[in-house]
Amino acid sequence: MAPLTATRVVEALKEARRRTFTLVAAVSDADLQRVHSPLMSPLVWDLAHIAAYEDLWLVHRYGERPLLRDDLAAMYDAFETPRAVRGDLPLLGPAQAREYMDEVRSRTLEVIDERGVGDGLLHEMVLRHEHQHDETMLQTLMLARLDGYALAGRRPMPEPVRPAPTGLDMVEIAAGECTIGASSERFAYDNERPRHRTHVRGYLIGRTPVTNAGYLAFIEGGGYERREWWSEEGWAWKEQHEITRPGAWTADLDAEWRLGGLEPLHPDRPVVHVSWFEADAFARAHDARLPTEVEWEKAATWDERMDPAHPRARRYPWGNRRPVPGQHANLDHRGCGTAPAGSYPAGSSPYGCLGMIGDVWEWTSSRFDGYPGFVAHPYREYSEVFFGGEYRVLRGGSWATRTRVATAAFRNWDYPQRRQIFSGFRIARDA
Ligand SMILES: [Fe+2]
Repeated sequence: MAPLTATRVVEALKEARRRTFTLVAAVSDADLQRVHSPLMSPLVWDLAHIAAYEDLWLVHRYGERPLLRDDLAAMYDAFETPRAVRGDLPLLGPAQAREYMDEVRSRTLEVIDERGVGDGLLHEMVLRHEHQHDETMLQTLMLARLDGYALAGRRPMPEPVRPAPTGLDMVEIAAGECTIGASSERFAYDNERPRHRTHVRGYLIGRTPVTNAGYLAFIEGGGYERREWWSEEGWAWKEQHEITRPGAWTADLDAEWRLGGLEPLHPDRPVVHVSWFEADAFARAHDARLPTEVEWEKAATWDERMDPAHPRARRYPWGNRRPVPGQHANLDHRGCGTAPAGSYPAGSSPYGCLGMIGDVWEWTSSRFDGYPGFVAHPYREYSEVFFGGEYRVLRGGSWATRTRVATAAFRNWDYPQRRQIFSGFRIARDA
């Protein structure tokens, strides 16, 4: 990878900002300020928070200048101000938030002009932070059900693959070693490190994520009524909230909400907006289970074929090159939703798994924790404070993830009942 020069950082920061503004360009001021879901911040909070984070890391800490708006620091700090209360705060309005973003950005560019980007790590972190908030904002926009919302630059999705994958077709991976985690050569988050070797028992894993057709068959086969397929916690959640279908499906199971409107349920697309509990129940109904995250990562990255004497992990299923959206994977907000499963054969992993990057975040059975030898960096709140709880790990990124973020080592996490995230899954089984 070419070193992160000041010129490249500046270009990437500008591109990130153009994309952020594109996402909200067609959203009214009222919808920017509204709380669309108790799980999400008002969009206008995300906007000013992006600026506050940039000011903190690139201007204040890296550039050693005072914060631009000391008075806003707490309100836009994700920890001091949890999502649940963000709607009740005297937030900056949409125009003020955009102005704040512009002002911070000018300061960031001044600092870069003055002292370059150093090793580039903080700049990479801030860039990815903005990219990740774009995905968060897309979750909010999905939940807002803004009819007619149109994202500029939307591309058509590929034609369905024939024969259509359902997610039940599996590949077998023999027992053996592999390495897990990000290499030390490039930027990675603390929770992806250190890279370590581990032995994995033989297993089978879905060639593709489970599709809408596969999931519809589960529902029609009594998926939400058969107690034996559900964990105790999952059943209690489903009963309490009267869950009978994925989060974006209509009650007649004929259509699903996509960004911008209701569309007929497409059988070949990966099922999305399902909770871990639902994914787990589906797997049990098929005499299967969810893969552990180690199984997921091995299936995505481990290459014993290229050089059998020296197998090694790839950065992406297809190799070490950054994804080209539309060629390797459905990423980057490209089609404003999922593509038919199996659409990108060029994105295949060495074991033949498809769609591991992009389309839907995939639930794994694993709880979120540090790898052996974990060291918090650059701050504890990035991941360490989330370790050891109820969070389950999701892998692979979604259609709403930017290419810069979507590596195979990237770990996302959420509660098992959540489904505001663009979450799907693939199944696994012991060999
Ligand atoms: Fe954030």
